[in-house]
Amino acid sequence: MAAQEEVLIAPSVLSADFLHLADELASISNADLVHCDVMDGEFVPNLTFGPLVIEKVASATDVPIDAHLMIHNPDRDALTYVKAGASIVSVHAEASTHLHRTVYAIKNAGARAGVVINPSTPVIALDAIIEDVDLVCLMSVNPGFGGQAFIEGSYRKLRQLQALCMERGVCPLIEVDGGVCAANAKDIVAAGANTLVAGSAVFSASDRAATIETLREQGNEALGLRCQ
Ligand code: DX5
Ligand code: ZN
Repeated sequence: MAAQEEVLIAPSVLSADFLHLADELASISNADLVHCDVMDGEFVPNLTFGPLVIEKVASATDVPIDAHLMIHNPDRDALTYVKAGASIVSVHAEASTHLHRTVYAIKNAGARAGVVINPSTPVIALDAIIEDVDLVCLMSVNPGFGGQAFIEGSYRKLRQLQALCMERGVCPLIEVDGGVCAANAKDIVAAGANTLVAGSAVFSASDRAATIETLREQGNEALGLRCQ
């Protein structure tokens, strides 16, 4: 995959009004990805939605779906989300017993495959899979809930991840998920990210499209500086 020239913005529908999901999706139509947080109440202490809702979301928007699976058995269930219409399916390294097999199953089914690591999981956990993935997601909060504060130690992990990618000559999407807002978007991209998930920052705003543009501008400014 070629190096990302523009930062991608992925609003998380976790903070959307589920009673009016179609309208909420329309309000973020300038986003690059729709981030869908699938939680099973076991891997994380919260429960959201599954493939049926993803299928509906996919039918209601032209923006590609970025499915973040916070489920205890992604090896068994990941393909269900490809079939439901997700363009990117990401699984947690902590939850997958056969990560390499699952990554290739997702790719062979026609989607892009991502691997997510929790704040307490070191970047070295990606060492044997980094060349195989289309996306790496660093959790910058403990997964399960929107609206939490960004964990500052994520900057160091981002720099380590960027170094690992350079060493191996790979350019996956590097996504950061949790506590992202206009105030820290630039620093996050400067540290190595090129894809920003933002739930509460986007959906708490009265003008979601403008908030997405602000995040994009902030991110692109930092990406431009990084490339100099
Ligand atoms: C947390 C989810 C995030 C969440 C981010 O477990 O993976 O995608 O929606 O929400 P904010 O941006 O509010 O931290
Ligand atoms: Zn997420």
